[in-house]
Amino acid sequence: MLTLVKAGLNMNKLDFPADFLWGTATASYQVEGAAYEGGRGECIWDTFSRRPGAVYAGENGNVACDQYHRYVEDAEIMSELGFKSYRFSIAWPRIFPSGTGNVNKEGIEYYRNLCKELKKRGIQTCATLYHWDLPQALEDAGGWANRSIVDAFRNYAKTCYKELGDLIDMWITINEPFCVAYLGYLFGVHAPGIKDQDKALAAVHHVNMAHGVAVQEYRASGLKAPIGITWNPSTPRPATKSEADKKAADIARAFYTEVFIFPCLGKGYPELVTKDLGLKLPVKDGDMEIIAQPIDFLGVNYYSESPAFADNNAPYKFSFKSFWQEATAMGWPYTPYGLKRQLKWIAEISKGAFNADKEIPIYITENGCACEDVVADGRVHDSQRVKYLQQHLAICADIIKEGVPLKGYFVWSLLDNFEWAFGYTKRFGIIHVDFKTLKRTIKDSAYFLRDVITGFGEW
Ligand code: BGC
Repeated sequence: MLTLVKAGLNMNKLDFPADFLWGTATASYQVEGAAYEGGRGECIWDTFSRRPGAVYAGENGNVACDQYHRYVEDAEIMSELGFKSYRFSIAWPRIFPSGTGNVNKEGIEYYRNLCKELKKRGIQTCATLYHWDLPQALEDAGGWANRSIVDAFRNYAKTCYKELGDLIDMWITINEPFCVAYLGYLFGVHAPGIKDQDKALAAVHHVNMAHGVAVQEYRASGLKAPIGITWNPSTPRPATKSEADKKAADIARAFYTEVFIFPCLGKGYPELVTKDLGLKLPVKDGDMEIIAQPIDFLGVNYYSESPAFADNNAPYKFSFKSFWQEATAMGWPYTPYGLKRQLKWIAEISKGAFNADKEIPIYITENGCACEDVVADGRVHDSQRVKYLQQHLAICADIIKEGVPLKGYFVWSLLDNFEWAFGYTKRFGIIHVDFKTLKRTIKDSAYFLRDVITGFGEW
């Protein structure tokens, strides 16, 4: 303890403001299952997971954690653990099976029931409109690379506000635009599995536009719960002090992060991307104003970071490499300090955005890690995850004291679930799921978080 205290870190007790919002997070395709029930249409992950080699062992979200049928049990567990909010996503193909057209009432009913079950237990609802399960019919028409998706999203968002608005306490328009545009259309490792720079840049702009129109519709709806967006910013440190590596880190941040965040904050697209990299985004007159809608909070997902270095062989002249940290089961290094750098950066660049006189609240909408968890005698001793959470929460507690307006933290994830291209091989849950029986087992990390929420986060 002494050395930790000497190191200047408050590592013995995790103290948070009484009104700090403690939540868990999931996403529809990763947990719901019931892929062909309740009138749900096909989404791009249904088709992508059928593509040979796209997802580990050809696994898919057909059953996942079966939350579609087990949400009562899951709400019960969250309430036992003391969580105050549940971040889930609405599956667009449950609301509009083919993306547009007639509303599927069964889909609406499912989310209404889920919300009521949560609220009955005093758990707030945080709904993400888009966490990657695009209706396949829209992808067939060009997906996020086709500008017409912006109107389809507007219509979908408007419908969600109308049908669910009375039950939602917090809205998130899009989860991780980076993954939508780049993992889906540039690197091709996520659905729809396309590798095409022009399409990716079109997707960047259309995702940003979709966010903007969704906020416009929200304000028109008269609903009052806060609305924001969730980014996964990459704000890498340079690998060395050389000018070349510093520039590489700046370009990495601009290309991976600022192209999404800056337009939403009214700062336009970064010149490092439009001039230095010479990339073109399909911007039309008036678009930037549409994107820059005032929002009520900024959502940040953080897992890890690796330093950036100049690399002339890389397509955008930068690469990332981690040199010395221990890594999680994803191979991602433990870098809690990166969270501090990132939150400070977000707080700094968002100051004064939308002419707000107050700072814009920030929420960590995902943080967590994958571990090799096993159940033994009905328990899961995931000490690696406990350590990971302790370290990241220590940063959060610290940064609040430094004045960063961090208002809540959602752990990723409530449940072990379908980890996209990794299938079911990577376990991120604070609850273990046996994918044969679907039995839930509470891990040590969940009990640790219960202690922190209760105000006894000692370690
Ligand atoms: C996503 C989650 C994902 C997690 C871990 C985030 O990028 O929002 O859906 O499971 O990271 O990879």
